[in-house]
Order: sequence, then C-alpha cells, then structure tokens
Amino acid sequence: MRIADFALERYFARWEFAVEHVLCASDVEGYPMGEVLALADDETRGLWDRLTLGYTESTGHPLLRREIASMYDTLDPDHVLVFAGAEEGVFCLVNVLLGPGDHAVVTWPGYQSLYEVARAVGADVTLHELREDAGWALDLDLLRRQVTPATKLIVVNAPHNPTGMLPDRSTFDGLVAIAEDAGAYLLLDEVYRFLEFDQDDRLPAAADITTRGVSLGVMSKSFAMAGLRIGWLASQDQDLLQRCASFKDYTTICASAPSEILALIGLRARETVLDRSRGIVAANMERLDTFFEGWADRFSWVRPRAGSIGFPRLTVPGVGIDDWAAGLVEAEGVLLLPGSRFGFGDNHFRLGFGRTDLPEALQRLENHAARTLR
Ligand SMILES: Cc1ncc(COP(=O)(O)O)c(C=O)c1O
Repeated sequence: MRIADFALERYFARWEFAVEHVLCASDVEGYPMGEVLALADDETRGLWDRLTLGYTESTGHPLLRREIASMYDTLDPDHVLVFAGAEEGVFCLVNVLLGPGDHAVVTWPGYQSLYEVARAVGADVTLHELREDAGWALDLDLLRRQVTPATKLIVVNAPHNPTGMLPDRSTFDGLVAIAEDAGAYLLLDEVYRFLEFDQDDRLPAAADITTRGVSLGVMSKSFAMAGLRIGWLASQDQDLLQRCASFKDYTTICASAPSEILALIGLRARETVLDRSRGIVAANMERLDTFFEGWADRFSWVRPRAGSIGFPRLTVPGVGIDDWAAGLVEAEGVLLLPGSRFGFGDNHFRLGFGRTDLPEALQRLENHAARTLR
C-alpha cells in the first residue's frame, strides 16, 4: 500500500516533545498511572496483580468488551472489537469495506486517516467540507448531492476534530436517514463523545441507532488515557466486525495486556474519569472565552459545543498563521497547529483545551500576540 504522509502526525513527531507547551493537543491531560490503579475495584485489582504478559484475546478482553458494550444502549460484548487505538480501527474497517470502484464521503477538514486510508485502498473519496460561516455545521443538502449509487461509506466525526462541532439532533437524524437511504455504512468517529459541554446535547451512538452504523471509540480523548492505545469499533453488524478481526491479524493481532486491564479499570470508574476531563475542559473554556472576547478584532472563533479542540482563525491582514505559529514556538515555546496541516489554508489553527498547562500557554500566546498583532 502507498499512502500519503499523515501531515498532522508528522508535525507532532517534529514538535510535540520539543516544545514547552502543546496548545493544540487533542487529548485530555493524561491520567496519572497511580491514580488509575487507585480507581480499581477488587476484581480489576486482582486482574492487574495477577496479570501475566502473554498474548491476549484477539477480539479484546471479554470484561473490557462487556464494559465497552455497557456504554451503548443496545449492544452486547459481541458487538465490540478492541484495537490498538482508534487509528487501527479506522485502518482495518476501511480496508475491509472499501476498494477500487467504491465511493466514500468524509467530513473535512478532519483527521486525515478518515479519508487518506480510503484513498490508499483505491476508493473514490468526496470530502464534505465544513465551513466556518455555517458554524462548521454539516450540510445535509450537500451531503445528499454527494452520495452516489457507489457510496459504500459515509464518515462523520462528531464531536468534531478540529472544530468542536456537534450536530443538533435533527441534523444527526437527517444524516442517519441519508446513510440508510443510500444503503451505506455510517462510520461515526465518536472519540470525543462524553465531552459535550451540555450533557443534554449528547447524540445517540451510530451503533445504537442504525444497523449499518459503526461507532469508533477510544481511551485517548474523553477518557484521558492516550498512552494505553486502546480503542474499539462497535456495531450491530457482527459479520463486519468479524471481517475487521480477520484483517487485524495482519496489524497487531491483539491488544496490549496491561493496557486492556487499565482501560477496564478506567471505564468502570468512568464517571470519575469523565468528571476530571470535563472539569479541565470547562475551566479552560472560561479562559478561552475571555481571551477571544478581548481579541475579537484579531481572531475569529466559533465556540465549540463539545470535545477538547477548536479551530479559530487569525484575521489580521497580511499575517499568515504558518509564520505566526512558527514565531510563537520560537519566542514562547508554545505549539499551535496551523490549518495547512489539514490541507485547509484559510488562516485557521487548531487550539487544544484539554491540558492543564493551558493558562500558562495561553498567557504566553497573548504575550506574543501583544508584541506582534497590535
Ligand atoms: C477524530 C479522531 N479520530 C481518531 C483519532 C485517533 O485516536 P488514537 O490516536 O487514540 O488512535 C484521533 C486522534 O487525534 C482523532 O482526533
């Protein structure tokens, strides 16, 4: 397989561990290992203490699959397949679903693998562009026009990376109807689910709402445990999951044994884990609200409705975000992610608000803005 470089990941490979503050991270501040273990109940503490480091079950630890299934309204453990991160789930699913002659529609700007893997397997990909002037909303009329008889897969990420967009319920129902009418699978990348700012805004999971729905989940974002590299696909379509499991024999075969137990501990204690994540995000959003209010004549900002990232735009004439972000790293050691990394070059940049160093990072950004944008 030939596949284009993952521009965002290459950028992070260069910068993430070389700067003082990553102000564009998508994950929530990593949960300290000792605190995860302190969340264990008697059963999971025993599993951890007696763990032997052999191979694990290829579909995922049965207790972990059961715990994941319990986060959905209609699913059994057999409707869940565990992967090494969400990334592997996307890779396997797209490989088994699509090939030359197939068509996929994918939201954009977005997480590159959601469309790049489809291109690499020879499918024809149509990007469904989200626009700032529409509040980054899905455009159902456009989507209806983009779907063709060859459309086998529609991919939507909500809550959305990088904009923080979350469709309202009627738009979501319209999306599901379009996928069902087309007879297409609907992959909903739900890795930021449970981080809705208003809990009433949470959408149903794709795997619950339609037989062709596939939900993508992960420990990395809302659950603040990216280092575990544990993700999953959930779907009522067991045949599809079986095909993904067969493909996975060529990628990782099975998940990391310690990670599975730690993920189980984290998910059993998910209310505690999610409260922590929501607390970090809410405190940071307050600071961002103040910042963008004060700098409204220099930055535009569609306030996210969920997740841990947003996609503001630098609006100062003659100042390009790539250069400005490079100056910010150099002067203040603060990393932003220019929209060009999404192939989206309109002076936008991704801002992450899941990390606890945001107050310091934002202060440094403001210092740089005061020096260069006034
Ligand atoms: C929308 C989206 N999907 C999938 C992933 C992949 O998650 P992971 O790196 O934990 O596998 C990411 C990570 O940034 C993401 O933002």
